[in-house]
Amino acid sequence: MTAPLFGFGTSQEDERTEATAFGLPGGRVLAVAGAGDLPLSLLALGAESVTACDLDPAQLRLARLKATLPLVLDRHEALRVLGLAPAGTGERLRSLRRVTAALPAGQRALWEAHLPELARTGVVWAGRYERYVRRLRRLGGPPLRRRATALVTAGSLAEQARVFDERIDGPVLAAVLRTAFHPAVYRGRGLDARGLQHRERGRSLGRQYHGDLRLWCTGTPAAENFWLQWHLLGHPTGPAALPVWLTETGWQALAAREVALGLEHRDVRDALAACPGRYDRLHLSNVSDWMDEQAFHRLLRTAAASLRPPGRIVWRWLHVDRRPPADLGDRLVVDPTLGERLRLVDRFPFYRVVVATTTDARP
Ligand SMILES: C[S@@+](CC[C@H](N)C(=O)[O-])C[C@H]1O[C@@H](n2cnc3c(N)ncnc32)[C@H](O)[C@@H]1O
Repeated sequence: MTAPLFGFGTSQEDERTEATAFGLPGGRVLAVAGAGDLPLSLLALGAESVTACDLDPAQLRLARLKATLPLVLDRHEALRVLGLAPAGTGERLRSLRRVTAALPAGQRALWEAHLPELARTGVVWAGRYERYVRRLRRLGGPPLRRRATALVTAGSLAEQARVFDERIDGPVLAAVLRTAFHPAVYRGRGLDARGLQHRERGRSLGRQYHGDLRLWCTGTPAAENFWLQWHLLGHPTGPAALPVWLTETGWQALAAREVALGLEHRDVRDALAACPGRYDRLHLSNVSDWMDEQAFHRLLRTAAASLRPPGRIVWRWLHVDRRPPADLGDRLVVDPTLGERLRLVDRFPFYRVVVATTTDARP
């Protein structure tokens, strides 16, 4: 099997969380690009501007490709190219050729070298994480498919809870999660080793996922949960279960704006420091998991100094709970109640959500 083309094919963040915390529409957003969906959704939801940066050029290439889709394809073609709707290899190949032809010259060759693979699976399934999820799903076979279908077709949250408790949860599931997400198995195969480097040894990620699984499956309507559907079924079941930028309204909003997504290959802290006063909203994904405490504190100090006040910051964490440095005092204030309230309705609630506001108070 060829090496994955990027780490993540799909953003793991539910844009509703950032949209609420940022008070969209409006706002000048600096975002970590990741797989590109979250920045595009914020743009579709009416952020005044969105600039996405990433340290990983492969993620930026993917975000650029996604940002190009509304300029070249119709929405249904785009869903098929991404691998979120069924399509034949030949059809995907023809659409992908049109997309790559619209990319900057320097970005075409790499995609074109992988066209057969991308056309076979759809673009998002070329990600390291997505390949891993697909393998796990295949292990679950038809029984998993039947149970996941029962979950997404349940007519109420109470029915979802019944399906989860009676047909999905149990010791077998707990054991599978503990094994699949054991660092010795998951590191490198499902996630870049850097993403796990700060996780406390001996704290089981599989057990943590299992602990939040009931909320994921029963806390919000599964029929409208893109993240749940592509993990468990491999594709969304309808227009209600798509990231906003891939809905009809979001697509039209992006097409009308000619996809004004800025993309920068740089550290998020450098992007902030280079433009003091330019941004007032900051989406940090879960970079705190990828950094040591000192680096994260430096990032927050730069954010407090560079965001136009009052600035809003959202970060998420899975592995390590990093707090702001004490020296920031009132210049960066976390609202724990809002963060937890947003997580409880987030459609991928495995990450803890932290919402902070910056002010221009000086020490
Ligand atoms: C933090 S990861 C999130 C991926 C996934 N949610 C996970 O569990 O790790 C999202 C992106 O952050 C990028 N990233 C990490 N540290 C960064 C930094 N200091 N500046 C910009 N991007 C960074 C990574 O390259 C990756 O594409």
